[in-house]
Amino acid sequence: MYEFESLMDHDEMDDHFDEERVLSRKALREDSEEPQLRPARWGEYFGQERVKANLGIAIEAANARGESLDHVLLYGPPGLGKTTLAGIIANELGVEMRITSGPAIERQGDLAAILTNLGERDVLFIDEIHRLNRTVEEVLYPAMEDYALDIMIGKGPSARSIRLDLPRFTLIGATTRAGLLTSPLRDRFGMIQRLELYTPEEIAQILKRYAALLGVGIDGDGLRELSMRCRGTPRVAIRLLRRMRDYAQIHGDNIVNREICEMGLSAFEIDAIGLDGNDRLIMRVMAEMYDGGPVGLDTLAASTGEDPVTIEDIYEPYLMQIGFIAKTPRGRILTRGGFEHLGIPYIERDARIGATGQMTLQDILDGEVRDRKGDQEA
Ligand SMILES: Nc1ncnc2c1ncn2[C@@H]1O[C@H](COP(=O)(O)OP(=O)(O)O)[C@@H](O)[C@H]1O
Ligand SMILES: [Mg+2]
Repeated sequence: MYEFESLMDHDEMDDHFDEERVLSRKALREDSEEPQLRPARWGEYFGQERVKANLGIAIEAANARGESLDHVLLYGPPGLGKTTLAGIIANELGVEMRITSGPAIERQGDLAAILTNLGERDVLFIDEIHRLNRTVEEVLYPAMEDYALDIMIGKGPSARSIRLDLPRFTLIGATTRAGLLTSPLRDRFGMIQRLELYTPEEIAQILKRYAALLGVGIDGDGLRELSMRCRGTPRVAIRLLRRMRDYAQIHGDNIVNREICEMGLSAFEIDAIGLDGNDRLIMRVMAEMYDGGPVGLDTLAASTGEDPVTIEDIYEPYLMQIGFIAKTPRGRILTRGGFEHLGIPYIERDARIGATGQMTLQDILDGEVRDRKGDQEA
């Protein structure tokens, strides 16, 4: 089994704003969980059938040959189970997992030290791998490709490089946006797997397991309510379950049912489809100040008082997923569905911003190749 202390990203922890937000996909302080709750084997990891099938076969083959598993890149919005999946892969390979993250590795030497301490077939998990700096990233290229470390000895004309052999390890990288990875790095992953939002049925399975572990009852209505309002995200679902458990303890008989959910979720201003006050604020600003857009990210951020990155990483993916916001080359627009959800009459926009110009959430997660400096694009 692997260590769990560093499972939560420090920058996620420091995100004060998100601290308030029950529906945040990012890890909050309250999410730090006892290690025994996190799924450790395939049987406890629900959904993501395609990813599980692909990885399962590759792991079985690697185990049968006694070889290391190909390097794996996992990508998708926060809270969908990337870190958990990495742990399961290590467990199924029967090896140790070393956990670190892109921003935590500051110098080449830091990475070299980690690499040289790995055992044969071990897993190195780098969370937020798109945030590795370039010089550190260069150490990874020969490490991933040839299991080798190139070290410079001496300075000036007498300098020479020596090559050290590394154990045959498996790198598992996790990122919220594969498009931010440089192509030399992306090309060195043998398997690139995208995690999908979960269906309510899959979330219900996850919730059943957690309810049993947390020692709280949940009935069919409770499962339905929570699985519809968690944005297809296990981390959010589990957080809602924990909050509802408190309500069930104090106001009920320790069973999360419809009554408890309605009481609890309305206290958090979470509506029937799982939007909270901040989602509605963003949509309302788009509708009322910008006639539904298009509006640029920075403008939207300034008008709502949010950080552009927070809007882009946290709010938008789900609002786009459910079709309330669309991205166009000229900015974000609020769709008819978005207007209707707010109860505001829909404003027709000119035909130029038609379907052809729109990008889908998938385009953004998959392809949009931007320079990492372009993270904060306008
Ligand atoms: N498929 C799944 N089955 C059961 N629990 C899951 C699943 N995916 C995620 N979880 C739970 O959801 C939470 C968030 O998962 P995590 O792996 O930390 O997400 P990520 O690394 O993608 O942000 C964890 O508590 C994890 O145990
Ligand atoms: Mg994670």
